[in-house]
Amino acid sequence: MATFTTPGITTENAATVSHTLQERLSALNDLHLTLKHIHWNVVGTNFIGVHEMIDPQVDLVRGYADTIAERIATLGDSPRGTANAIEKDRSWNDYTLGRDTVQAHLAALDLVYVGFITSHREAIKSVGEIDPVTEDILIGQTAELEKFHWFVRAHLESYTGDLSTSGAQTEAQAANQAR
Ligand SMILES: [Fe+2]
Repeated sequence: MATFTTPGITTENAATVSHTLQERLSALNDLHLTLKHIHWNVVGTNFIGVHEMIDPQVDLVRGYADTIAERIATLGDSPRGTANAIEKDRSWNDYTLGRDTVQAHLAALDLVYVGFITSHREAIKSVGEIDPVTEDILIGQTAELEKFHWFVRAHLESYTGDLSTSGAQTEAQAANQAR
């Protein structure tokens, strides 16, 4: 446990917050790698639009990882940013699609964002009681990520407002429904 932390919070509470943030740091590191993987593997009609839509998101998510890592250090703990940390912290599977169409990747990415945003919201809830400053950081990130999730879903939405990925449980299933 840390021997010091930011004023107005106990070292025990700081450790609890850091623990939650470490999991979010690994999730953010995994997400920006996954986004680059999609950027490199997407093919077919409307390639360039999606290829180029992804890069600003990579930069944003990479910046968010930096913010979370520095928050962990501010709280007196040591952020772990290695590939091994991602592997150790993650409770989700590796992204499953390789070279595939725009619709297939966006459908799989829809599910990635559902998982990520759900977990970020759970983190907001768990840190909110003890550290509103960390809560505020997570809220700001979630709002931007939800907007990008909408960008993704807008490609999968019909004029009646239905999503082609509706009911899909896996990335492969979502991709099949959208192809
Ligand atoms: Fe590129």
